[in-house]
Amino acid sequence: MTNAPSPQPDPAATILGIETSCDDTAVAIIRGPAQAGGKDDAPVTILANQIWSQHAEHAAYGGVVPEIAARSHVERLDGLIEAALREAQVGFDAIDAVAATAGPGLVGGVVVGLTTAKALCLAHDLALIPVNHLEGHALSVRLTEPAPFPYLLLLVSGGHTQLVVVNDLGDYARLGTTIDDAAGEAFDKTAKLLGLGQPGGPQIEAAATGGRASRFAFPRPLHQRAGCDFSFSGLKTAVRQAALDVGELDGQTRADLAASFQAAAARHLADRTARAMALFSARHPDQKNGYRLVVAGGVAANCTIKSALGALCQKEGWTMIVPPPKFCTDNGAMIAQAGLERFRRNIVGTQADTLAMAARARWPLADPVAGAQRVGGGKKGPKA
Ligand code: KG4
Ligand code: ZN
Repeated sequence: MTNAPSPQPDPAATILGIETSCDDTAVAIIRGPAQAGGKDDAPVTILANQIWSQHAEHAAYGGVVPEIAARSHVERLDGLIEAALREAQVGFDAIDAVAATAGPGLVGGVVVGLTTAKALCLAHDLALIPVNHLEGHALSVRLTEPAPFPYLLLLVSGGHTQLVVVNDLGDYARLGTTIDDAAGEAFDKTAKLLGLGQPGGPQIEAAATGGRASRFAFPRPLHQRAGCDFSFSGLKTAVRQAALDVGELDGQTRADLAASFQAAAARHLADRTARAMALFSARHPDQKNGYRLVVAGGVAANCTIKSALGALCQKEGWTMIVPPPKFCTDNGAMIAQAGLERFRRNIVGTQADTLAMAARARWPLADPVAGAQRVGGGKKGPKA
């Protein structure tokens, strides 16, 4: 009798991800399938997830100061990389590629992360994968959930508010964006004018828990306007005007203003998302495995916004997927995830190309990664 050969384990790849585009210094190490195929949306193993939040360093200035952010990334990044290797209990010999945010973001910070990644790749002879930060947010859901393509993405962060059809890795169609402030920026500015701390989103959410959302009737931005664009600056101005009308702000009024603003922001996001869902289902009329709305970015942590979007999805028969809060806000794991997805499809520029890549302050998601069209790999190819 002959024994049947035991099944071969799927080859896996280990990717180190570096994120430094704003005010979080983050490093993660993840391990997942090294080859594209049927199970390439299977959740990965997160071996390490290290983050240093600079919030306290910027608190006195009421916003992120680019020079302070860049210096803090320089001071923290090496230690976080060492901590991530310790947490994962691996050395550089176990790493297949380094993925680093190459933009968009505060360029001083992006330079710190990208230059560090280049140095590591040269020193350890690894492939370097420059990642668009927005692609990291777009794919972050696939760290923890089997989320097959295509899906509709609502990206709501401090710098971006976009509705995007994620057709496939690198194939993104933007349906709408903000014409003024990003959603998180509106939370931050509103918190500031209410005398709350930064970042404003969690502060507004906490203040709103004791507030009456019905006390102030704020406008529905762009309500009659077709399309899926957003606008938040009118809402912020309406809060300022209401606060001026009230005069002295007591605790209850502050809570009522926070709750009314939060409800109006949630309503606006749900209004525009409903339009994008209609466009998405028209483009994909027979999506056999169902329609999915993925909500990502820091603002996706907000419970009022999640429940407004959840109610919309329930009404329309869609599934809503929101990554855990630690993967909604900026993190290294989402950058490693974007790197892993590119690595396993062999969409990795040559080492010479990627080492020459510069940090980019602006980089629309629809713009393909420089060097990504070429098929190659670093000196090291995928490893079993
Ligand atoms: O994705 P993220 O960490 O960084 C950017 O890429 O911008 O998002 C940060 C933004 C900040 O504006 C912050 O106020 C907002 O997300 N935010 C929230 C909440 N938690 C963070 N907004 C509303 N509610 C929250 N619970
Ligand atoms: Zn972000």
